[in-house]
Amino acid sequence: MDYKNMSIYQIYPRSFCDSNGDGIGDINGIISKLDYIASLGVNAIWFSPLYQSPNADFGYDISDYVAINPEYGTMEDFDRLLSEMHKRGLKCIMDLVINHTSSQHKWFTESRKSVDNPYRDYYFWRKGTGKSGKKPPNNWTSFFIGSAWKYDETTDEWYLHLFDVNQPDLNYQNPKVLQEIKDILKFWLDKGVDGFRCDVITILDKTPGLPDGKSSFLTGSEHYIDNKNMFNILKELKTDVLSKYDTFTVGESVMINVPRALRYISEDNQVLNTVFAFDHMDADNYFGVKQLVRKFSIKKLKKAHERWQTGLYGKAWNATYFENHDQARIVGRYCSDEPQYRVLGAKMLATVQMCLSGTPFIYQGQEIGMTSIRMTNIDDYQDVEAKRSYNLMRKIFGVKKTMKNIAYASRDNARTPMQWNNSPQAGFSVNPKTWLKVNPAYPEINVENEKNDPDSVLNFYKRLLKIRKENKAMIFGKYELIKTGGNKLYCYTKEYEGQKILLAANFTKRNYKFVSPVAANKTELIISNYPDSPKELTECVLRPYETVVYKLL
Ligand code: GLC
Ligand code: CA
Repeated sequence: MDYKNMSIYQIYPRSFCDSNGDGIGDINGIISKLDYIASLGVNAIWFSPLYQSPNADFGYDISDYVAINPEYGTMEDFDRLLSEMHKRGLKCIMDLVINHTSSQHKWFTESRKSVDNPYRDYYFWRKGTGKSGKKPPNNWTSFFIGSAWKYDETTDEWYLHLFDVNQPDLNYQNPKVLQEIKDILKFWLDKGVDGFRCDVITILDKTPGLPDGKSSFLTGSEHYIDNKNMFNILKELKTDVLSKYDTFTVGESVMINVPRALRYISEDNQVLNTVFAFDHMDADNYFGVKQLVRKFSIKKLKKAHERWQTGLYGKAWNATYFENHDQARIVGRYCSDEPQYRVLGAKMLATVQMCLSGTPFIYQGQEIGMTSIRMTNIDDYQDVEAKRSYNLMRKIFGVKKTMKNIAYASRDNARTPMQWNNSPQAGFSVNPKTWLKVNPAYPEINVENEKNDPDSVLNFYKRLLKIRKENKAMIFGKYELIKTGGNKLYCYTKEYEGQKILLAANFTKRNYKFVSPVAANKTELIISNYPDSPKELTECVLRPYETVVYKLL
C-alpha cells in the first residue's frame, strides 16, 4: 500500500456522532459524516475499537473480536460503513488489540474456571508468593498503576494484567494464541479492511518464567518491552497473513526509540510499516508520565522530532501525530488555548506536523482546533486511567494538585463529543445525557462555524493537506533542524530531489525577530497562519505563533 502518500483520520467511535439518541456515538453516525471526512483530503480512517466490549477501557478490552459492539451497531452496519468508505476512496484501518482481551472474553472466562481448562494457558496464571502465598507472583506493575497481578479465588491463583484488572494479558508462549489472532486478522481482511493500528504491539512477548523486574518505575518492563521473540511474532503474522493482502500497519510501541523501532520497520526487513513514537508527546511532562505535568519545552519537542526524522531517514518511515484518544488536546499544551491565540496556535502545530516526513494522523476534532475540557470533578471522568491515577496520586500530591494535573492531562480531554455545530450537545447527539460531557466551548468551536470561515483551522487543514500532496519535500524531504531560536522558535528545512522548504514557527506569545539562517536566491511563501506574512523570506518579526513555510529556489 502506498502509505507514504497517505494521511489518516482517527475516529473515536463513542464520541464522533450519535445517530439514535442514546448519547453514544455509533456506526450510522459515522456513515453520515463520511462526506465530511473525505472533504478534508485524507485517505483513510483509523477506528478506535468497534468490537464488542464491556467498556472497562472503552473498547480496548475486547470480549469478542469478530462482533461489533451493539452500542455502535451491527455487523451489517459495519459492512455498509466499509463499502461507503471504499466508494469514497477511504481506506479502513481497524484497531488491533491483542496484548490482552477483556476479562469477559470467552477465552478468559473459560481459562479462569480450572487449572486444566483448555484455555488456561491462553493467559498467565501463577501461584502467589511469600510465606502465606498471599503476595503477587512477581513485582511487575501495571501501566494503570499498582500491581500487574490480580488474585482469583476460583483456582487460588493470580493472573497478569499489564493494564486494567479487566484486561488480562494473552500468553504468546502458547502457539494456539497466535493461531487465534491469525484467524481474527483473516476475518477482517477477508471483509475488505485495509490494515491495522496495532495496540501496544511491542509488549506481547514476556520473558519465560516472568522474573522480577529491577527498576522502580514500570517495574518488570525490561521483561516485556521489545523482548527477544517480539520480532518473530510479528514476522509470523506478516508472513502467514498480512503479506497475502494489500495492507498497512502501524504499531503503537511503548517506550520505543529509534534503534528499537528499526528492528520492526526497517525497509529491508519490515514487520510493521511504521510505528507511533511517544517522545515528542512528552515535552510537557516528566519521565514520560503525562500526569507529571511540567511547563512545555519546545527544545524537547525539537530534539524528539530531530531524533526520529533523521534516525529513520532513508531506512524506515515515520507516523506523525499530535493528538489521539490517549492525549489531551494539543492546543492548550504546546500552544495557548486563550481565545486570541487558539486559531493561530492550532494552525502553527498543524503546519509543524504536516511538513514532517511520515504518514500524518489527524485525530477527530484536531482539524477544528478543539480544546481540552479540563473537568475539575473526578466524578465527571469516565476513563479508568484518570480514576486510577487520581486514587494513587492524591495520596502523594494531595487532591488539589492531583486534580489540576488530571484536568490538564487526562485522556477524557480528547474523548469529549465531537463538536459539529452550535445546537445543544454540539450536534453530537439529541440526548442531553451524553456518555461524557460536551465541552462548553462548542458554540464557538464547531465544524459548522469553521466550514463557513475561510480563515478557520478547518480550512487551513484542508489547504495544508492539499499543498502537502503537491510538495514532495514536505512528505519525503530530508529533515534538518536549524539550531536557532532556543525555547522560542522552531525552524527546520526539508530537502528532496533539489526541492527545499524552510519552516519557521514562533512558539511564543511575543514577537520574535527572525533572521533567515539559510541563503537562497529566490524564496516563495507556500503557507502561513497570518494573512500578511512576508511573501519572501527576509529578516522579519514573527508575531505570536506566526508560522511560515517557504520554498527555497
Ligand atoms: C493503548 C490504547 C489505550 C489503551 C491501552 C490498553 O495505549 O491506545 O487507549 O488504554 O492501549 O489497551
Ligand atoms: Ca448511538
